[in-house]
Amino acid sequence: MENKINASKDMLIAELDRRVADKILEKSNADLLKKLIIKSESLTEAISIAELGTTYKRTGLHFDKRLEKPSNTISYFKKNNSLSFVTNQLKTTHKLIIGDNYPALLNLLIQYRHSIDVIYIDPPYGKDSLGEFAQTNYENALTRDNLISMLYPRLILAKQLLSSSGVIFVSIDDRNQAYIKCLMDEVFGESSFLLNVPRITKKGGKSTQTIAKNNDYVLGYTLSSDIVFSQEEKTDLSKYKYEDQYVETRGKYALTQTLDYDSLQYSTGMDYEIEFEGKKFYPGGSKEEMEKRHNGIHGVTDWVWRWSKSAVEWGIKNDFLVVKNNRIYTKSYLKCRKKNGKNEIEFIDPTKAFTTLSFIDNKYSNDNGKKELDSIFDNGSVIFKNPKPSSLTTSLINMVCSKKDAIILDFFGGSGTTAQSVLELNSKDGGERQFILCQLNEVTDTTPNGIAYDVTAKRLKRIMTGCCYDGTKDFKLARDGFVPYKENLDVYEINSVANFEKTEGKTAFDVIDEELYGLKKFDYLKDKIQWVCNNFEPTQIIIESDESYIKRENE
Ligand SMILES: C[S@@+](CC[C@H](N)C(=O)[O-])C[C@H]1O[C@@H](n2cnc3c(N)ncnc32)[C@H](O)[C@@H]1O
Repeated sequence: MENKINASKDMLIAELDRRVADKILEKSNADLLKKLIIKSESLTEAISIAELGTTYKRTGLHFDKRLEKPSNTISYFKKNNSLSFVTNQLKTTHKLIIGDNYPALLNLLIQYRHSIDVIYIDPPYGKDSLGEFAQTNYENALTRDNLISMLYPRLILAKQLLSSSGVIFVSIDDRNQAYIKCLMDEVFGESSFLLNVPRITKKGGKSTQTIAKNNDYVLGYTLSSDIVFSQEEKTDLSKYKYEDQYVETRGKYALTQTLDYDSLQYSTGMDYEIEFEGKKFYPGGSKEEMEKRHNGIHGVTDWVWRWSKSAVEWGIKNDFLVVKNNRIYTKSYLKCRKKNGKNEIEFIDPTKAFTTLSFIDNKYSNDNGKKELDSIFDNGSVIFKNPKPSSLTTSLINMVCSKKDAIILDFFGGSGTTAQSVLELNSKDGGERQFILCQLNEVTDTTPNGIAYDVTAKRLKRIMTGCCYDGTKDFKLARDGFVPYKENLDVYEINSVANFEKTEGKTAFDVIDEELYGLKKFDYLKDKIQWVCNNFEPTQIIIESDESYIKRENE
């Protein structure tokens, strides 16, 4: 008996030594526990002492995992021809998948495993977006498990879709950020962590009573070890509307500065006549007023040109000046300017490095997302609440991916903001990026036919073709003369077929269309069966014993 107890004590001591070797337990603590184990009078006492060194709390995320419901059916893509459209055969065809993103991601894996360059998601962490499911999401820790449990299997699929240089971004509010950070660490690995940046939601809401909540977060993870960040534009590019023969080197230009000002220190040397394009110009527009000023009737600050005579001569020669509405303007080029105090061109870098504070700029606020949606639908921001501004997704994509044929996935597509960014980027640089959006057809008070039908598909149709599905053009953007993006859209629904159902025309082999997965039609049914079995796993078990298919194949 004594020997047995000693052998057991040795085993307990060996376990403590292993933990020291694994750096889970301090050696000094283990030594103390070992001494106490040796002196202990019973095995029960020895076990209790050893437990002090063998039980430890694991840090990290613990949540109550709720698995996706198992199903006897196979989910597959079915094209919705009435919502799909082609505007230009030579341009990219994008995808909108209507339905739950879990089967959507499983189906995407067939064609896009390790091929997605950027994933952006904005999961439904608010009360409204998941309806009843999220009603109490914030009230206690248990219901937060719903959000994490829902995301967990989807992120595991997303990781398999991401390319080796790909990046995944997640927008998340302050209440859930810490949990989703831990979840991302768990799925993608802490070493894949790239960034956690605040993003401005709104500017206002300040009060002396509380601290205004004016930001949420974007988390970023990548599987790449050598990601290269690109630069962001220094200025608001929408001001740079014009171009001349120097566009390649000087970039586009803005016309925001007149050559004459009335608020500069007066000097007669800067108050002179300019002859340009066959016309004569005077500061402030009037020759008589100029003469009065020359005769001493002027203020300390008064109308003068901003440039000296020689600078104006240089400006005319080098196409830096332009006449608009009878006034002379200096062109503000994106990539160059007139060197201060010299008649020379100075080239400037129009970009700057992104920082973790880049996204607190007002252009990323929710107001801009609302304005965008309001220009596509009357009351757009009432129909769909809190759309993100496309400036956010555009900058995120731009920041980490310079590929012009990148594939960008958003599996909580919402109103389609990410798609708009991809189209915008393509229109700017002639790229062939492709977006893939997944969106549940969630019915809400403002979207009786579901968000995907009432908002997502309609937004894409309007911005890509310039028309609504009924052919009308009555939305603000169209009225304002917006030029549509003219790319193509395939809309898929997620359909399901029972894998046990063998009625003619209802089996997986009859309904799954391989062309929707980027393949050519199979010549032989046998090949199709093989492909379906390999890719739509639940079918496999059934088909292996399915004599009728083997027979059909042999006919
Ligand atoms: C916060 S919104 C995304 C908003 C989007 N970023 C935008 O700018 O419009 C989240 C969206 O995910 C959708 N959603 C929720 N669960 C989903 C699921 N399982 N599959 C697909 N979409 C889902 C919701 O219907 C909601 O429209």
